[in-house]
Amino acid sequence: MLIHTIKEVREQVKEWKKLGLTVGLVPTMGALHNGHLSLIKKAVEKCDRVVVSVFVNPIQFCPGEDLEKYPRTLEADTKLCDDAGVNIVFAPSPAEMYGENQMRTNDFLTYVIPPFFYVNKLCGKSRVGHFDGVCTVVNKLFNIVQPDFTFFGEKDAQQLIIIQKMVKDLNIPVEIIPCPIVREESGLALSSRNKYLSDEDKIHALALSKILNNIKNCYKKGITDVEALKETAYQFLDEHHDLEYLEFMNQNDLEETTKADDTTRVFIACKVGGVRLIDNILLGEK
Ligand code: PAJ
Repeated sequence: MLIHTIKEVREQVKEWKKLGLTVGLVPTMGALHNGHLSLIKKAVEKCDRVVVSVFVNPIQFCPGEDLEKYPRTLEADTKLCDDAGVNIVFAPSPAEMYGENQMRTNDFLTYVIPPFFYVNKLCGKSRVGHFDGVCTVVNKLFNIVQPDFTFFGEKDAQQLIIIQKMVKDLNIPVEIIPCPIVREESGLALSSRNKYLSDEDKIHALALSKILNNIKNCYKKGITDVEALKETAYQFLDEHHDLEYLEFMNQNDLEETTKADDTTRVFIACKVGGVRLIDNILLGEK
């Protein structure tokens, strides 16, 4: 069922809660692919009722980013959700979420601001204000849907860690279920932004997963010095790659590390053909 208003979602969820049913929420920006679908499937398995939100959140896009051209495929998304057994696709307009005023200026909006320590690194460095927008919208979605469980992908590991921190710090009564990264057979992590890549770009984009897998192999062979591990990346990079960062951090608190261990997550962001791609890998995973 496709719903556009907060009021209707609230009414429906209220009915479910009266019946004692558990509710799962999968927040998305749409243009759904198999990565999203893996979260949705997990939600349908675990929860009695599932809401998928589809909302291209304007306040998490920085000036000059792809807000206008971000792919919007609501009809296909709704069909995919229906087929997967989702109960509600919640697709509000920006005005429904933020009111007409905020569409002109967001000076009047109350924000949820994650700690500086978590946002002054990785994607937060180049995307200033991005995680304020993410936390604010996710907090609003939690308040609207009041889910028992919510599903986030490790594809956006910094986002996942920041949302976990927000839920803990603000005592939000929801359980977060992290979901592994879904990849193409080639290794490329699925992303709605892969639609911007040409066939040739897609081949160059494989450098990200190759770098991460190679680092993990080196780690498994006993190399733990982060500088030495970083050095192994350059063989995969050429003029087609604009590397933004390659960082090693503790996967629980995003503390930077110089000596890798099983809790280290390696994060990479790289532009290919003008498209900004991100990926990551946990060194301790089997
Ligand atoms: P979006 O990019 O649409 O992603 C929605 C969810 O799908 C996120 O939790 C993301 O980590 C997950 N996801 C995307 N690609 C994936 C992949 N290849 N494997 C596993 N999970 C994947 O992330 C957002 O939207 C927004 O920031 C949002 C949280 C909805 C707030 O606006």
